Amino acid sequence: MKLGAINYSELTDAQRLAVKYFVVAMALFLAQMLFGVLSAIQFVLPDFLFGVLDFNVNRMVHINAMVVWMLYGFTGSIFWLIEDESGVPLVGQKIANITFWVLTAAVAVVVVVFLFVQSGPGEQMTLWLINEGREYIEAPRWADIGIVLCMLAIFYNVCGTFLKGKWSGISGVLVLDLVALAGLYLAGMFYTTNLPMDQYWWWWVIHLWVEATWEVLVGCIMAWGLIATLGANRRIVTTWLYIEVALMFGSGILGLGHHYFWIGTPEYWLGVGGFFSALEPVPLVAMVVHAIYDAGRHSFRSNNHPALAWLIAHAFGNFLGAGVWGFMQTLPQINLYTHGTQWASSHGHLAFFGAYVTIIVAFIYLAVQKLRGDVWMSSRLPYNGFLWKGSLLLTHVGMIGMTIALLIAGYEQAFVERAQGGSTWAAYFAGQTQPWFIQAMWWRLVFGVLMTVGVVMLLWDFLSIGAGETRTKLDVRRDTAPAIEEDSGVGATETQSA
Ligand code: HEM
Ligand code: HEM
Ligand SMILES: [Fe+2]
Repeated sequence: MKLGAINYSELTDAQRLAVKYFVVAMALFLAQMLFGVLSAIQFVLPDFLFGVLDFNVNRMVHINAMVVWMLYGFTGSIFWLIEDESGVPLVGQKIANITFWVLTAAVAVVVVVFLFVQSGPGEQMTLWLINEGREYIEAPRWADIGIVLCMLAIFYNVCGTFLKGKWSGISGVLVLDLVALAGLYLAGMFYTTNLPMDQYWWWWVIHLWVEATWEVLVGCIMAWGLIATLGANRRIVTTWLYIEVALMFGSGILGLGHHYFWIGTPEYWLGVGGFFSALEPVPLVAMVVHAIYDAGRHSFRSNNHPALAWLIAHAFGNFLGAGVWGFMQTLPQINLYTHGTQWASSHGHLAFFGAYVTIIVAFIYLAVQKLRGDVWMSSRLPYNGFLWKGSLLLTHVGMIGMTIALLIAGYEQAFVERAQGGSTWAAYFAGQTQPWFIQAMWWRLVFGVLMTVGVVMLLWDFLSIGAGETRTKLDVRRDTAPAIEEDSGVGATETQSA
């Protein structure tokens, strides 16, 4: 490993694979931002690109790119940690590589079809070739089947590698969770003309992904990340993981009912969904306590400051975006007024960002560090770490600004359209022509652009951080013992490593 240079060829096979997944993930992240901005412009200037790239297409690309890049980010993270965690090389290197290229080619074809063909007649062929019509997972049927095959290949690799090497608490939870995550995708693949039934199954994928299986997956990644960046104690981290998983599944599975309030499902879902989903913030609080406990215990002394900052952002973002913003609208008495307004979008943005963008970014910082030859990434970086700090700030200011703008718009819709206007057709439009709503949509655009600038800075930082660095990474693993109290923190060790 050469300090400060790109050491791609010296990474292990699984790590090189992870880097490829990360590269595609980041390209799609940028695409997501751009299509988000296009959709946001169309909210305030409806004629913009009308008939060329309509709102429905931009919105579809925006949210599908998001789901796909996050899955790429997770897969990359798993491949990154797998050899370290299992102690053996990846079992099926060749299959893993082929899977990556097949999957990526399929994603590219789907996006091109979304952009250039856009829609087709209401028949089976459209479903098979163009668009399956299920929000967030709109890929046509052929791609669906391909995705399932690729996921099986990835699963074979992950499971096979752990079977050959050693198991740990983290890998055990990870493998079981992947079975559930992949299995749920099947629920979004069959078609029925009965809309409530269609939505009933569709929510199994969407809700049970983001509020159960994805949360558990990032719990595993976080656990490994805390050990890697802080040298956190494995026994403590694993214990937390078990507690969080139990709480997450205990509340999140039946919490599914909060999407069954008004879609034509039986009335008992009002009680079941309201009760269990109200408990969903509990594991998220546990995660915040866990991260802060570990970081505090190690006096925030990490070998990778950007990664640790984003891991902490994850703990808070997950709690606020999913826990607090979700909870606000999860009781049926409130959801009656807020359902389907910009309130939901406010929560959707903050939750996906806070829970998932953050942790993948943290992980990529870990990968970049290794790629640069295990360089120093603690305090006193060149230019005072301007790019990582600046992008952290801009993405967060942009996201929080968007969230607040959407919340104001949603509040206004809940009051004007629902409470005052009684949800009539006329009230629907009255709600969306109010100055409060229109101004909020402008603010969303402004903050969205700000966030996009932040993302560009972030990508730039991934490419440049650690270049030319001559100091090696701070060693945190050696002091996992509690004797850390007398250590005065980063400054003290800097001189010895510099
Ligand atoms: C990281 C975790 C989460 C993510 C990524 C997430 C994301 C989303 C998204 C994108 C939507 C909009 C779905 C649509 O109609 O297109 C949504 C809806 C909703 N979420 Fe979450 N969510 C998360 C966690 C939670 C939690 C923990 C709660 C409750 C405590 C919650 C409560 C709700 C409710 C009630 C709705 C329905 C809003 C409506 O009726 O329009 N969410 N969520
Ligand atoms: C990491 C950042 C982002 C994430 C995680 C994200 C996520 C999402 C999600 C989950 C939805 C569906 C929400 C729903 O219908 O309830 C959505 C819709 C949308 N997003 Fe984003 N987004 C991000 C950034 C942006 C940016 C930068 C913009 C541009 C200003 C933007 C503009 C939009 C628009 C206009 C919609 C359509 C909303 C609607 O149909 O009412 N998003 N985004
Ligand atoms: Fe949900």
